[in-house]
Amino acid sequence: MTGMPTRRLGALEVSAQGLGCMGMSHGYGDADDERSLATLHRALDLGVTLLDTSDYYGAGHNEELLGRLLAGRRDEVVLATKFGFVNRLGEPAAVRGDAAYVRQACDASLRRLGTDHIDLYYQHRVDPQVPIEETVGAMAELVAAGKVRHLGLSEAGAETVRRAHAVHPIAALQSEWSLWTRDLEREIAPVCRELGIGLVPFSPLGRGFLTGRYASVEGLAASDVRRTQPRFADGNLEQNLAIVRKLEELAAARGVTAGQLALAWVQHRGDDVVPIPGTRRQRNLEENLGAVNVELSAEDLAAIDAAAPAERVAGTRYDEGSLKLVGK
Ligand SMILES: NC(=O)c1ccc[n+]([C@@H]2O[C@H](COP(=O)([O-])OP(=O)(O)OC[C@H]3O[C@@H](n4cnc5c(N)ncnc54)[C@H](OP(=O)(O)O)[C@@H]3O)[C@@H](O)[C@H]2O)c1
Repeated sequence: MTGMPTRRLGALEVSAQGLGCMGMSHGYGDADDERSLATLHRALDLGVTLLDTSDYYGAGHNEELLGRLLAGRRDEVVLATKFGFVNRLGEPAAVRGDAAYVRQACDASLRRLGTDHIDLYYQHRVDPQVPIEETVGAMAELVAAGKVRHLGLSEAGAETVRRAHAVHPIAALQSEWSLWTRDLEREIAPVCRELGIGLVPFSPLGRGFLTGRYASVEGLAASDVRRTQPRFADGNLEQNLAIVRKLEELAAARGVTAGQLALAWVQHRGDDVVPIPGTRRQRNLEENLGAVNVELSAEDLAAIDAAAPAERVAGTRYDEGSLKLVGK
């Protein structure tokens, strides 16, 4: 798509919407590499530059998949990956952020990605056992070595963001942000704005729920993480669906889908915000990219806020174990 607008994450220029690649390897049921690759190529053809992966997604599979795309199109991509989780999906969460691990993880990611540099390298979760200065110090050495161009954090707390940024400029904070997850608005986003750090909302579609197409967990694969997430649990799901039905009404009145409305709402949080909806499918990719051009007035935004008040969302966004690692 010519004319895809761009936004800045710190000193990094990226398409106004990125593509989250996690579901192509892990979390949301079966993946098909050839279908995923076709979606990735289509994303680049449509002007998406920011691709988001992690060494965690499919235990390296997602980075290897992106490596296949990058082999021919490296220059078109702003490549973002992450390190930190040392457990596999489904095992209790465990993270490492010591300097030796940072170096080792980066080299392993570069090998899987088949490239000599990562454009945006995130710490996936802060390691509570390691001072952030040590972790970001090691990440800064990767920048000096030319292996990494820009640094990011994910789900870090406000104080950690400040301390990290004092060691080396942080280009972006990637944290969950959507109509049903607004935790970072109070304290963390203002600190990022004060420091010139861009915001990358993950799961901006509420793990698909805000599209209105997930009315039950019945059809989901046995391995789908949503089956274990409190907001999709019996009782909570019904209450949350009532919110989505209102969003669908507002969307229909504006000639867009509920998912597009949810994405446009995130996009309207500010010019420093670059959501990364995830999809394995070209059709959904195209729908999601349509949100980039949806203009919402102050009145529209107020109507959306009123239809989806955060306090009416039932259930926490993660289970207890995973919640312990966010906002640290
Ligand atoms: N930093 C972190 O800790 C963290 C955590 C979670 C995610 N992330 C990143 O953020 C990205 C996005 O988050 P996410 O994938 O968790 O959640 P999301 O973008 O809110 O939703 C993804 C889900 O919605 C479905 N979907 C996407 N577009 C759709 C559409 N137009 N209509 C109907 N269904 C649609 C996808 O299924 P289909 O594949 O079938 O389209 C998938 O199941 C991830 O890919 C990952 O890169 C980061």
